[in-house]
Amino acid sequence: MRIAFTGKGGSGKTTVASLFTRIAAEDGHMVLAMDADINQHLAGAVGYTGRLRSMGMENHSIKQYLLGTNHHATVQTMHKTMPPGHGSQLVRLTPDDWFIREFTSTHHGIWLAGAGEIPEGNVGARCYHGLNGAVELVLGHMIDRQQDIVVVDMTAGADAFSSSLFTKVDALMLVVEPTKKSISVYHQFINHAKRYDIPLLVIANKIQDDEDRVFISQYIPRIAAWLPVSGNVRRQERDGGVRDIESGIAAALRGVRDELLARPIDWHKRESLAHTMHLRASELSQIDPNFSLVKAAL
Ligand SMILES: Nc1ncnc2c1ncn2[C@@H]1O[C@H](COP(=O)(O)OP(=O)(O)OP(=O)(O)O)[C@@H](O)[C@H]1O
Ligand SMILES: [Mg+2]
Repeated sequence: MRIAFTGKGGSGKTTVASLFTRIAAEDGHMVLAMDADINQHLAGAVGYTGRLRSMGMENHSIKQYLLGTNHHATVQTMHKTMPPGHGSQLVRLTPDDWFIREFTSTHHGIWLAGAGEIPEGNVGARCYHGLNGAVELVLGHMIDRQQDIVVVDMTAGADAFSSSLFTKVDALMLVVEPTKKSISVYHQFINHAKRYDIPLLVIANKIQDDEDRVFISQYIPRIAAWLPVSGNVRRQERDGGVRDIESGIAAALRGVRDELLARPIDWHKRESLAHTMHLRASELSQIDPNFSLVKAAL
């Protein structure tokens, strides 16, 4: 099950994604947390202090691996939306998987990976979607199981919809704060989600009182979880390190997790959406007509 965390800048995408990830790992799920934001903060938010290998900067070797002996493209022509075909390598959430071994760092049972940041010399010359395209490629070649949890921390606001990365997940989490600006993206998001038939769940974050609840409820009909301002998140932000997750927050996020896991992964939908998005961006010839992702997965 793959879940992308989206929302206005500063709403708490990274924080909520990190709490969700920690709880999933604590509860025994195989967990992969992928940072697809231009500012890479997800690993730090779960307490990892090392450096992650940049998927984006090593896009070439990722392509080379995933392509395997699939002859429908070359490493040079392979588009980030290209679906797997015969001969492609598939990614699985197991410790012996090539991608997991090469591109993730393990921290408290969480596999951490990141698209990387735009290198100094390339600022202004390189589009970030060129880097997080590597995340899209890996997701496109991933065979995850129902109980596996893949969390993707997305770029802020509507930028999350400016590449086809969001169509590679099973659900979008929209994190909103009780502010007009934060809520303003909701209608935009719900339209995109409906158009691609991707469930959108809203997490109301940094809630202080009933006034906040009433305010958000005016605009958004259903909230999947209400999260208060967290003393431990604030302490963590101030002092560094990681703190325990308050029990109310943990319970609310477990509720969201259970709601998500109750929907079986729809491999048919994943495959047809992958083809649709690929054809919008690239050539039919990169799709192997004799390969079925659905069969490979099931
Ligand atoms: N529930 C919460 N309680 C207290 N502080 C919070 C909570 N959620 C987020 N914060 C704080 O709000 C700030 C923004 O959070 P965060 O970095 O997670 O947002 P973001 O949406 O990922 O931002 P960006 O758009 O920059 O990636 C941080 O200082 C974080 O500690
Ligand atoms: Mg963030």
